[in-house]
Amino acid sequence: MIVARTVAEARGALRSLPRPLGFVPTMGALHAGHLSLVDAARDRCGSVAASIFVNPTQFGPGEDLERYPRDEAGDLAALEARGVAVVFAPAAAEMYPDGFAVTVSVGGPLTAVLEGERRPGHFDGVALVVTKLLNVVRPDVLFLGRKDAQQLAVLSKLVRDLDLPVEVVGLPIVREPDGLAMSSRNAYLSVEQRAAAPNLHGALQAARTAAATAGATPAGVAREAARVLADAATSAGPEASFVVDYLEVVDEVTFQRETELGPRSLLVAAARLGSTRLIDNMKLRESSPADAPLTTGASAYPAGDATTRK
Ligand code: PAJ
Repeated sequence: MIVARTVAEARGALRSLPRPLGFVPTMGALHAGHLSLVDAARDRCGSVAASIFVNPTQFGPGEDLERYPRDEAGDLAALEARGVAVVFAPAAAEMYPDGFAVTVSVGGPLTAVLEGERRPGHFDGVALVVTKLLNVVRPDVLFLGRKDAQQLAVLSKLVRDLDLPVEVVGLPIVREPDGLAMSSRNAYLSVEQRAAAPNLHGALQAARTAAATAGATPAGVAREAARVLADAATSAGPEASFVVDYLEVVDEVTFQRETELGPRSLLVAAARLGSTRLIDNMKLRESSPADAPLTTGASAYPAGDATTRK
């Protein structure tokens, strides 16, 4: 496995790899969720490249850039064991040299809501770094997790609107045995918070059950999730109680609030345990099996402006 620190090294190492080339961008501190993307890439592609880069432009002031978990040696060992051919792991100055002045921004209603609203500039930073990474790596297939469902939608729109020559594949959320969605940020949780954290998944599951009943509405389903989370908080005590940031039923492509439940209904949640912010989501009415990959294309991400796509 080649570890490239510069754009030139990465381009050199990638030039002669067997195609199709699959690419898995990450910020490191890898867990089984990241590695499921690598496995999917290896299954589908002739070779796999990954990146490890804690991208400063997607962190807001006061967010966790400085304390974001880092374990490069462990990450490289895991990627090598999974058959990755090239890892691009640049320093910040390689990606953003002095005088760097370009911005990339996915506009419109998709980025105005939820994560985009709570984390101003976050999706601009994600769109910028992924545009650069795609230009360096030039993969055929980009593998992303549905854990960050809005990011998946934003990057799919970036690829489509800029005609970037890459296919986007979104893969299912990998969870701990108790249901907690795997995340590098779970490492921030205290023992008490970690014990309470799976309640977020429990609330989403309860909402999905509610969604299957006759006459269920998006508002009713979201209320049910909030109720389950509040009940769990009462028993967990203040140290380990969730403070809900948002809990909404949205269209999984446009991320606009749904007025009726349908095949694209996604319950999205962000909630805080102490200073740690967790996000999770769940399809309410699975139109395809829960573990089926979601691929950019005519069906999953139809062309046209987000507001007209309903
Ligand atoms: P990071 O949080 O490291 O995640 C890298 C990829 O792993 C993303 O596509 C994310 O959705 C996926 N992932 C994380 N946890 C997962 C889980 N439990 N199950 C399945 N997939 C999971 O997302 C980023 O980095 C950055 O924003 C990045 C795209 C690399 C740009 O900097």
